[in-house]
Amino acid sequence: MSVDLSTSFTGIRFPNPFLLSSAPPTESESNILRAFEAGWGGVVTKTIGLHPVVNVAGPKTKFLRYYPELGVSSMNRGRGGVLQSSWNWELISDKTLDWWVPRIGRIKKAFPDRVLIASIMAGSGSDKELDHWRTLATACQEQGADGLELNLSCPHMDREDMGSNIGKDQKLCSGVTQVVKQVAKVPVWAKLTPSTTDIVLEAGAVFTGGGDAVVSSNTFPSLPLIDPETLEFEMNVDGLVSSGGLGGPAILPQSLAKMSQMTRAFPEKSFSGIGGISDFNQALNYFLLGCGTVQVCTAAMLDHAVGPNVVKRLLQGMTEFLEKNASRGWKRLDDFRGLRRDRIVAHSQIRRPADSDYQGGHEPQEGYAEPARA
Ligand SMILES: Cc1cc2nc3c(=O)[nH]c(=O)nc-3n(C[C@H](O)[C@H](O)[C@H](O)COP(=O)(O)O)c2cc1C
Repeated sequence: MSVDLSTSFTGIRFPNPFLLSSAPPTESESNILRAFEAGWGGVVTKTIGLHPVVNVAGPKTKFLRYYPELGVSSMNRGRGGVLQSSWNWELISDKTLDWWVPRIGRIKKAFPDRVLIASIMAGSGSDKELDHWRTLATACQEQGADGLELNLSCPHMDREDMGSNIGKDQKLCSGVTQVVKQVAKVPVWAKLTPSTTDIVLEAGAVFTGGGDAVVSSNTFPSLPLIDPETLEFEMNVDGLVSSGGLGGPAILPQSLAKMSQMTRAFPEKSFSGIGGISDFNQALNYFLLGCGTVQVCTAAMLDHAVGPNVVKRLLQGMTEFLEKNASRGWKRLDDFRGLRRDRIVAHSQIRRPADSDYQGGHEPQEGYAEPARA
């Protein structure tokens, strides 16, 4: 019984639905080439911008692990514990657009059948900034990028007009998407921040602006823990820390909740799921909620920088899943995509014990009789 791992997403043909997300695994040409050799169906490049980027003086990412024998969670006690999350305050690529341009071309020539999505980011506060989006989009697609991912979600920006500050504003989400769509010849995806009250609103704004897909989640705002001995944050520079981004296993359920809100609101639209994926069982959650591709960062960072074993597990897991379900007639992702999307309902729609009368949390309305129906 042959299974087909390939899929079409926003009009792009993928050999498999597993991508490396925009992050350190895709920060260089050599990493991306190694990723494709390992079997990833696509990559989203580390985000490319036009403004100067200077990272903090110290580590940019650490991993929080739980050590059962000590009963503690820490970022500083080695690889022995159980991984809970990644924490980072890394900015976008510190390489310039000029550095990226020839590399995108070379990567596409070396692997024409794999998908390269260029992640781009600029501001929104002036016409000049909006022009930066056009410049970035045009330069990347001219080199053969198969699609563009708009970074509307970087959580580390003090600038009011950039990153997740765009993703928190429906008008800016729409406006920036529209600006890129004016020049784009390839599909445009928008990566939203999970840090808003109702992500359905921002997703709707992206689609209104002409976006072809919504991607979620970027990391969740969070702090590193404080070391109880030194009383210092486990990650700091000169004792100081700022809000950073949580990724990895800890965010899987939260990211699924965000994703399900969007896929239920827009069942006909395209979504790429990210957050806490390290094997097929986790990816399956996103697929069953309606996602057409998934992306991985933390698990890949911890596996030889580009996740050769992670992608092997994903491909094997999906193959075995399709083989196991062949009797249902499932041969490819589209045969089971979205199957559990409609199982998420309002709390009051969940069955109560048979003999009780539940009023959605409201008091029974005493003294009120329904008007008689004619
Ligand atoms: C060190 C680090 C750097 C990242 N840089 C970017 C970036 O430049 N652009 C972007 O869109 N997301 C960036 N991300 C977010 C990831 O692409 C991904 O959305 C997030 O880590 C959740 O996925 P995970 O649970 O698989 O880690 C970064 C994440 C990490 C850990």
